[in-house]
Amino acid sequence: MEQLERSTHKIKTVVNVLLDWFATNARDLPWRRTTNPYAIWVSEIMLQQTQVKTVIPYWQRWMRKMPTIAVLAKARPEKIHKLWEGLGYYTRVRNMQQAAQQIISQYNGKFPKNFDDILSLPGVGRYTAGAISSIAFNQSRPILDGNVIRVLTRVFAITTDPRERKTNAQLWRLAEELVLHASRITHHVSPCSHLNQSLMELGALVCTPRSPLCGDCPLTKSCIARKKNLQETLPNLGKREASTARRFVAFVVERSGRFLVRQRPAGVVNAHLWEFPNVEIPGAPASCRPVSTSSKQHAGKMPALPGCDFHPISTQPLCTIRHSITRYRITLDAWRAELTKPALKDSGSWLEAAQLRELAFTAAHKKILGHIMAG
Ligand code: ADE
Repeated sequence: MEQLERSTHKIKTVVNVLLDWFATNARDLPWRRTTNPYAIWVSEIMLQQTQVKTVIPYWQRWMRKMPTIAVLAKARPEKIHKLWEGLGYYTRVRNMQQAAQQIISQYNGKFPKNFDDILSLPGVGRYTAGAISSIAFNQSRPILDGNVIRVLTRVFAITTDPRERKTNAQLWRLAEELVLHASRITHHVSPCSHLNQSLMELGALVCTPRSPLCGDCPLTKSCIARKKNLQETLPNLGKREASTARRFVAFVVERSGRFLVRQRPAGVVNAHLWEFPNVEIPGAPASCRPVSTSSKQHAGKMPALPGCDFHPISTQPLCTIRHSITRYRITLDAWRAELTKPALKDSGSWLEAAQLRELAFTAAHKKILGHIMAG
C-alpha cells in the first residue's frame, strides 16, 4: 500500500513537472500550431523513423500540396511518391492514401475521433493512434516510442530490455498512468496532448541517448537512473546487430539526351521508386571502385559482374555514393556506360533529364541524378 501511494505520488509529480516544463520549453514546430487531426496524422507518419529537422520542410510542402483528406484520397500515386521522395519507407505514404480513401468511404471524409476507428486505419499502430488521439483530441491515450522509452526507463529505473514483452507492457502501463493523471489536471490546457508531447520532447532535447543533459532536466529529482548513475546504460537494449557492407554498380546510359531508368517492382524495398539499372556485386573487394566523386577523374576498374544481364562497354567512372539503410552500409559505384543491345531490351524507360526530375528516385540514385545534372 505504501509502495503504491509512493508511486502515485511520483506519477503526479512527474506529470506536473513535465507540463510546466513543456509550457516554456516546447519547440515551435509547425504541426504544433494546429489541432487539425489530418495535419497531425501526417506529421506523426512522417516522424516515424525520421528526424524532426528533416520532416519540417516535407510536412510544410505536403500540407500545401495535399491540404485535405479528399485531395490525398484522389491524388495520383506518382504525386504522393514524389512528395515523399527522400523520406524513405515508402509503404508509409501508400498506407496513408489507402487510409484517406477509407476515411472518405467510412467516415464521410471526416477524420475519426474514436480511438479504435483511428487504430483501424492502414499504417496506424498503437503509438500513432495514441499520438493522434491525444495531440489532436486531447484524449487520455498513452504513447510509447524510442524517446518516451528512454525517459521512462531512466526516471523509473527499468533495467530489463524494453523490447521484451513483459517490460514493454510495463512501459505502456506507465505511459497510461501518466496520461491518465494528466487528464485530471485542470490548470493546464490540453494536458493529455502536452504531457505526451513533453515526454517526446524531453527525450529529444534533454534525455538524449548519449551524454544526456541531466543538469538541464526538470526531472532530476525524480530520476532514479540519475541517482544511481545509470543514465548512460538505460534503456538496456542489449547488443546491436552488426551492420553489413553491400556493394552495387549502377549504369548511367545516355542516348540522344535520354537516360535509361527503371521502376522498382512492388513487394521489394523502395517499391515503385525509380533507379538507374544496377546490380549487386556479392563479396566484391572495395578496391575496384571508382574512388572519385567527380565525372572527370578516372579511377578504378569495372569489377567482374558474374551472372549479370548487363554487359557494359566503354565505361567511365561517375561517382561513388555511400548510403545506409536499416542494417546495410551500401556503396554504390555509378559508371557512365554503354550497354550491349540484348540487355537493353525491356530493361526500362528512356527519359529526358526534365522527366527524371519529376520522378521519385531512391535516395542513393537521386544522388547519382544530382551528379549528372551538375555535369
Ligand atoms: N516525434 C514523434 N512525434 C513527434 C511530435 N509530435 N513532435 C516532435 N517529435 C515527435
